[in-house]
Amino acid sequence: MPELNLVLLGPPGSGKGTQGERLQEDLRLPYYATGDILRGAVREGTELGRTAKEYMDRGDLVPDEVIVGVIAERIDSPEARDGFILDGFPRTMPQAEALDAKLDDLERAVTAVLLIDVSDDEVVRRLGGRRTCEENGHVFHVEFNPPGSEGVCDIDGSPLIVRDDDKPEVIRKRLETYHAKTEPLVDYYDQRSVLRRIDGTGAPDDVTEEIRRTLATMRLEQDETV
Ligand code: AP5
Repeated sequence: MPELNLVLLGPPGSGKGTQGERLQEDLRLPYYATGDILRGAVREGTELGRTAKEYMDRGDLVPDEVIVGVIAERIDSPEARDGFILDGFPRTMPQAEALDAKLDDLERAVTAVLLIDVSDDEVVRRLGGRRTCEENGHVFHVEFNPPGSEGVCDIDGSPLIVRDDDKPEVIRKRLETYHAKTEPLVDYYDQRSVLRRIDGTGAPDDVTEEIRRTLATMRLEQDETV
């Protein structure tokens, strides 16, 4: 089977993490979510975490040179040989160019970029009610996806917390950052014919179904061109 190098793109709170977890199970590919990697580094108090925290708490992006190396190393690892799922990377034009350059070196390319589309109002609603598992980053919502037992992760039993960057003023800043720095990637990938738009406004299961359909269609198209 041809390798599958996937990118999940979309505003904060569009459901990239929710869908990424499901895709990882479906496709059995390594899943690299830069937000989770950075939060892990903050928890462990590493140099990466200390650098990243001040940017994250403000709703800014960490500098490109900090994050590019983190992802390049993973893509180059044996576990990513058959493909990978990226969530939260690339997020700026220089990151997209660095990803292309790295994949070029490996004689590979991005297979598809799934843009999960939701409005700013929906982002505010979703992030305002999000609860995240402290240990492993599993994601819930007080209204749309409540845990079985309040405040406890269904999957690993660790406490559910409100992320530091899910405060209303930081949510607004993250949205501004998305529109200014990440949205231009939509055109970048559209011009390369790898962009697939996913309506992110339905229920999580509906969004998962649309992604599955999109990937199945893509595979058929690939088979026809071989
Ligand atoms: P990151 O963790 O990547 O944050 P984000 O992109 O803002 O995305 P989120 O994790 O907030 O949302 P999501 O799209 O995963 O949605 P989720 O599934 O949780 O990054 C955090 C920070 O790290 C950045 O601000 C930056 O500082 C730094 N960073 C990371 N990557 C970087 C990079 N490449 N360069 C520089 N800096 C970087 O869903 C949200 C909520 O909605 C949940 O409660 C969920 O249950 C609910 N929900 C999900 N789907 C649905 C649905 N269909 N209907 C109803 N509710 C839903």
